Amino acid sequence: MTTVPPHLEERAPMTTTVRSTTPTSPTPVRQIVPPEERYATELAFLAAYDAGPRPPAWRLTPRAVVTFVMGSDGRALKLPEGVDVPEGVPGRLVVEGKFVGDRALVERCVVTLAGERGLLLVGEPGTAKSMLSELLSTAVCGTSGLVVQGTAGTTEDQLKYGWNYALLLAQGPSRQALVASPVLTAMSRGGIARVEEVTRCLPEVQDALVSLLSERRIAVPELAGTDDALAHAAPGFNLIATANLRDKGVSEMSAALKRRFNFETVGPIPDLDAETALVRSQARASVERAGAPFQVDDAVLEALVTAFRDLREGRSAEGWEVERPSTVMSTAEAVSVAGALALAAAYFPGDRDVLGLLPGHLLGVVRKDDPADAARLRGYWDGPVRRRAEQGSATWRTLWDLRTVLEG
Ligand SMILES: Nc1ncnc2c1ncn2[C@@H]1O[C@H](COP(=O)(O)OP(=O)(O)O)[C@@H](O)[C@H]1O
Ligand SMILES: [Mg+2]
Repeated sequence: MTTVPPHLEERAPMTTTVRSTTPTSPTPVRQIVPPEERYATELAFLAAYDAGPRPPAWRLTPRAVVTFVMGSDGRALKLPEGVDVPEGVPGRLVVEGKFVGDRALVERCVVTLAGERGLLLVGEPGTAKSMLSELLSTAVCGTSGLVVQGTAGTTEDQLKYGWNYALLLAQGPSRQALVASPVLTAMSRGGIARVEEVTRCLPEVQDALVSLLSERRIAVPELAGTDDALAHAAPGFNLIATANLRDKGVSEMSAALKRRFNFETVGPIPDLDAETALVRSQARASVERAGAPFQVDDAVLEALVTAFRDLREGRSAEGWEVERPSTVMSTAEAVSVAGALALAAAYFPGDRDVLGLLPGHLLGVVRKDDPADAARLRGYWDGPVRRRAEQGSATWRTLWDLRTVLEG
């Protein structure tokens, strides 16, 4: 390694001076660790914990997949006597709850994946469809990484295969020159492929999935006459797609494609306490990842989640009418607002009460789609917020006093 004299180092171009601060560390620091790594211990534990029969190529039993997604309700599971404990796997483990919602929904998803049809998760944005699909694919086949993001620009190649043009020109079509899509890779490994936002793809591109899901193979006409002309799906292959109800594309999917999927609708979290607990733990995790302490009062979090739920449902917790904004008041948005409040509390400690930041953040969330939503938020303030303040709640009194923030 060459050393740069200090006086030159400052002015040297970035590309030559970028060095890792910890050159001996083999693992680069990442913003997001994929679930297969983040939960590696849980996955290894559950594989040893439940040795029952599993569908072909599955890493875990269907029941253990559900436990991985839903958690063990705070109970420590104990490995049965006499099982070979893999290295680094504890004998007892509490499995963290990850998806907050209906266990029966998750069970149906798991059963679908063991069968012949694909799984389509539909719902409003921010209801953890993507998260659920990552968790399911991780538990079933050990990776969440075989994913295609659906957009208006997604091509059939991205769902099937493309070519390495340098090799194609040099050698002609061959197995080596073929670039497998994540879907083709999942087929050959017998794993789960994910297609995010499938309804954003053009209909003719979506329909590439029809033959793939029914015949469970991809034809490669360029390799006709060779053993590689047909890529068959290995046992265990399946597909999880997600679709956003706000995109209004689900009804336009072809009947043929719809028939290849079992639809499951993922809804918002029904229970206030469960949603508040989730928002707290995710906001806590995000500031702790940034190395800062989490200092947001429960009263602030509860007010935040209550406001999101009232606006989402069009009715307050007390049953008062609320005019719903057209924008989606999702749990995912609530998590990010709570994270922002927590970062403000951590980096500007003592400047002001973080509760005072809540109206501005809510305004930011509702104003995204329709300017008229700001007026609806003011309506919420003039109704439920004011009534709660009048009933003597200190938190809502503070929020009511901040109404001018919403005038902007
Ligand atoms: N029911 C839920 N259980 C757990 N996390 C949730 C739930 N609903 C929303 N979230 C939070 O929202 C985030 C974003 O969800 P995401 O999977 O991107 O939603 P979608 O794909 O439905 O738009 C999740 O990572 C999680 O922090
Ligand atoms: Mg998503």
